Amino acid sequence: MLDNSAASVTIRRVDYTPPAFAIDKVELEFDLAPLTTTVTNRMQLRRAPGASARDLVLHGEDLELVRAEIDGKPWTGVQVSTDGLTVSNVPEQPFELTLVTTNRPSANTSLSGLYVSNHNFFTQCEAEGFRRITYFLDRPDVMTTYTVTLRASRADYPVLLSNGNLVETGELPDGRHFARWHDPFPKPSYLFALVAGKLVAREQRIRIRSGEEKLLQVWVEPHDLPKTEYAMQSLVHSIEWDEERFGLPLDLERFMIVAVGDFNMGAMENKGLNIFNTKYVLADAETATDIDFSGIEAVVGHEYFHNWTGNRVTCRDWFQLSLKEGLTVFRDQEFSADMAAAGGSPEAAAAARAARRIDDVRGLRQNQFAEDAGPMAHPVRPDSYVEINNFYTMTVYEKGAEVVRMYQTLFGRDGFRKGMDLYFARHDGQAVTCDDFRAAMADANQRDLTQFERWYSQAGTPHVSATAQYDAAARTFDITLTQGYGPASADAKATQKGPLLIPFAIGLVGSDGKDLPLRLAQDGQVLAEPQTTRVLELTETEQTFRFVDVAEEPLPSLLRNFSAPVIVSYDYTDAQLTFLFAHDSDPFNRWEAGQRLATRALLSLADAAARGDALSLDPEIVAAFGRVLRDSTLAPAFRELALTLPSESYLAEQIEEADPAAVHAARLFFRRALANGLRDDLMAAYEQNRVEGLYEPSAVDAGRRGLKNVALSYLADLDDPDDAAELARAQYDSADNMTERSAALVTLLQIGPSAARAPLDDFYLRFEKEALALDKWFGMQATRRGAPGERVLDDVGALMAHPAFSLKNPNRARALIFQFCMGNAAQFHATDGSGYAFWAEQVLALDAINPQVASRLARSLERWRKFTPALREKMRAALERVAAGVQSKDVREVVEKALA
Ligand code: PHE
Ligand code: ZN
Repeated sequence: MLDNSAASVTIRRVDYTPPAFAIDKVELEFDLAPLTTTVTNRMQLRRAPGASARDLVLHGEDLELVRAEIDGKPWTGVQVSTDGLTVSNVPEQPFELTLVTTNRPSANTSLSGLYVSNHNFFTQCEAEGFRRITYFLDRPDVMTTYTVTLRASRADYPVLLSNGNLVETGELPDGRHFARWHDPFPKPSYLFALVAGKLVAREQRIRIRSGEEKLLQVWVEPHDLPKTEYAMQSLVHSIEWDEERFGLPLDLERFMIVAVGDFNMGAMENKGLNIFNTKYVLADAETATDIDFSGIEAVVGHEYFHNWTGNRVTCRDWFQLSLKEGLTVFRDQEFSADMAAAGGSPEAAAAARAARRIDDVRGLRQNQFAEDAGPMAHPVRPDSYVEINNFYTMTVYEKGAEVVRMYQTLFGRDGFRKGMDLYFARHDGQAVTCDDFRAAMADANQRDLTQFERWYSQAGTPHVSATAQYDAAARTFDITLTQGYGPASADAKATQKGPLLIPFAIGLVGSDGKDLPLRLAQDGQVLAEPQTTRVLELTETEQTFRFVDVAEEPLPSLLRNFSAPVIVSYDYTDAQLTFLFAHDSDPFNRWEAGQRLATRALLSLADAAARGDALSLDPEIVAAFGRVLRDSTLAPAFRELALTLPSESYLAEQIEEADPAAVHAARLFFRRALANGLRDDLMAAYEQNRVEGLYEPSAVDAGRRGLKNVALSYLADLDDPDDAAELARAQYDSADNMTERSAALVTLLQIGPSAARAPLDDFYLRFEKEALALDKWFGMQATRRGAPGERVLDDVGALMAHPAFSLKNPNRARALIFQFCMGNAAQFHATDGSGYAFWAEQVLALDAINPQVASRLARSLERWRKFTPALREKMRAALERVAAGVQSKDVREVVEKALA
């Protein structure tokens, strides 16, 4: 079933060739049965203009060929191989090829192709799953229209869904029935989907701006129906937002979302039939947290927005993946920011927007920057891959979104919209490239964006270092920016193609904490309304910008709102950072100043801890955090973010040779110093941010709960955590929503296993039948801090044997195994190497079940070279063990690149 011995083949972007055949239309018939499903595939084929191939080569995997016909007659010139089917000497003229194949859905544990989950049928075709359903030209530049007939037992599969519009239903002999669907929009095979089973739908009819009525459905298992309200509401908002912001309407009569409990990723944008991990559909106050609700809104938006950015205009080849993913992430980020900002005062809206931005950037810096400095580093538009599934990465998605955001930063919202309009005017219905998108942005804004191409072709995180000089007599302020790549991305440097165009937003802060008016020297005259933030365009390796009429020596606020995905260095003193942390008008940079301050202190604490020195923290730093905590003019969501320290894994990335135990000790010391120094303020924040009344997942309420719970978690780090334990216990017992309940339980686990035992048991009994809540139960135990000398891995091992645990369910595996390996750094990196041995065992076990999931887990050791020699050697041994036993090319690509 898996390609155990196949040599790894590297696919290269430069080798792209257009398809030799076109498919005018396809008709698929499915006779659905779990053990063996039969697929009849009738394709109208023709040679592509100018192509002269005699043979038709189709992709296929794990299929049994039953019959082949051309123009209704049996065709014997077919050759089956492990990865496809060659049909030889096909007619010169357009012809009809009929292929009948079988596949085995219930044996399909990879969750790619057609599979069974809780007795229902689902498909997952992106990137190359359609070839596991039938032989096909399974590549995104082959687009065609689909007519799909589904036949199945009516009793077992009362609901039969596929893409597009329902054209016919009816009865068949033997208790079977059928449904026929037609999708009028030509699409690539990766957007095909079918669903069959016992499902029910929440329905809503809406009218779009054209006046047309549309049917919206959210399909789930019957007992989950009450949990679909928020997903539906998010879908309605998404549809409205895309019309409002981008003029893009819903183009089908109906739009369906289906939830499935076994799913490799978050969700999938199949045309008109989005299939979602239950995690991003199901929510109610009792079982979902504020973060879950906002995840649902973001992912529902993301998949819906793909309808235009991905489906109407799709990718020519998989190297262009960021064309749809980077753009669609950018769109969902903007959507979430607009939703969070909606309805509030201008200040509240700005704060809500800033909180979203900070959250997005934190994720990017923590995960994408690490990826970009490691063995899997690749450009936003990769040049090669072995397994495309390994390239659904933070770089393609999140850095790709930053690249798209830079167009908007350069051209403004209106200029960006013009570029989008031109992109659709040119390319609707086509499969195109990242270059086509950049050309649309350039032409719509009359800009030469040749240099901007490097953002797509260059791996690694750029560094910008800044130096400044104030001339009091001349009243000028010169800022010199130098760009390059840091030592971390030595490989990236080797392929560096020249300087990037970096939009670099800057402000100058005066001694009163207010922004100074900005006048660039080359501007000539004073602007009618002086700007206080200015986007400099850095295009050279080194460039100096001169501000004139600068009344006093300012403090520069650099890369405001994180205007480019780069690392900025500037020699701030602690006092200057403290000042910016208190005053910067740019909320992102205000937060950033606090993070810089904390990071610097944490790294020197880690250094001291590694040397075995005594630890100490400057009280000024504690005081700076106290001022922000107490500042009630700041949104609670912002204060929560400001008080959240960089994670241990992020800190380890900043260290040449990381010692996770030292990093852990440093962060804990810092937390205790804040807790002890700010005890009363934390208590006050806890009390003042209790949210009364009915639970609502609004940005404002979520912000208050977030601040309250971060305060609680600090209080639990006091030398005497009894008060915190009491508060947490009371919060657990009185909670009427999952945000409060799970935060309380996590805090109790932080205090210690004995404090948590009873509520942990209560949580299990309460949510025994709620898969998503149970995932949290596993996850919080896997990420528990653990007392000195304690092995949390022992708990994880015991939980693996729990009857509710299953390796086959990706959400459950992620909740327990991934959370331990990726979310509990100090325990995972235990000096005895037990974490790594566990990792190797689980990667290999998963590899035999689900290579995509296994490969994601495999990546948690890719930064092994960054650690202390003792850990490094143990990690290498674990990697070698996996390399020796691996079956899938997914995992093999990851471990081979890690060891190379
Ligand atoms: N295209 C999906 C998304 O970004 C992600 C996905 C990829 C899902 C591959 C399944 C398989 O929304
Ligand atoms: Zn996507």
